Amino acid sequence: MATLVSPSLLAANFLDLQRDIDMINRSEADWLHLDVMDGVFVPNISFGFPIIDAVSKICKKPLDIHFMITKPERYIARTARTGAMMMNVHYEACTHLNRTVHEIHEAGMKAGVTLNPSTPVSMLEDIIQDVDMVLLMSVNPGFGGQAFIENTINKVKRLRRMIAEAGSKAVIEVDGGVQAETAPRLVAAGVDVLVSGSYIFKSSNPEGVIKSLKAL
Ligand code: DX5
Ligand code: ZN
Repeated sequence: MATLVSPSLLAANFLDLQRDIDMINRSEADWLHLDVMDGVFVPNISFGFPIIDAVSKICKKPLDIHFMITKPERYIARTARTGAMMMNVHYEACTHLNRTVHEIHEAGMKAGVTLNPSTPVSMLEDIIQDVDMVLLMSVNPGFGGQAFIENTINKVKRLRRMIAEAGSKAVIEVDGGVQAETAPRLVAAGVDVLVSGSYIFKSSNPEGVIKSLKAL
């Protein structure tokens, strides 16, 4: 499978989202990654449904929404109404993860489960058959522009083995500190989808950066 790229809107210019989404639409990006933060699960607040609905109206790429909120199951139906393709919930934020994953599917979306850097991939052994994606955080969630946590490479390799052994269809996405130096190593370790915020949006040639990530 070719590498997929999901640019993270968190690093975009919020005074001119139209311009940045036009760029995403023109680019080779596969998805658009949207980071929802509640100031409780993570020490930051980002944006919610008013922004997602507005973005959804003009964005031609499927939406990959990453919920960094407690009890994300409260918002499954509302998220489906945005037209999102993928709803990612944190393992650490869901008490009844099996139920939540199935409710996401019943609402017509793909289900992603996200792990914080310190959560071992083995915690997913009994849900890996049911998920469409595992999102490995390669920084502690809450902020863009942080340094990549090196142990993520080992986690990707362990997760790749787990997915193969289980015969699961889950793809592996990585989020945090993805840039020129870390992206090729992640792809070599077995990552399918690269999320990247500051490396893309702070570049003078964001479309070129997306193209270079796709080519890995
Ligand atoms: C962090 C978010 C990321 C963030 C990545 O909590 O989940 O999606 O935007 O930003 P970079 O690519 O700058 O590390
Ligand atoms: Zn994210």
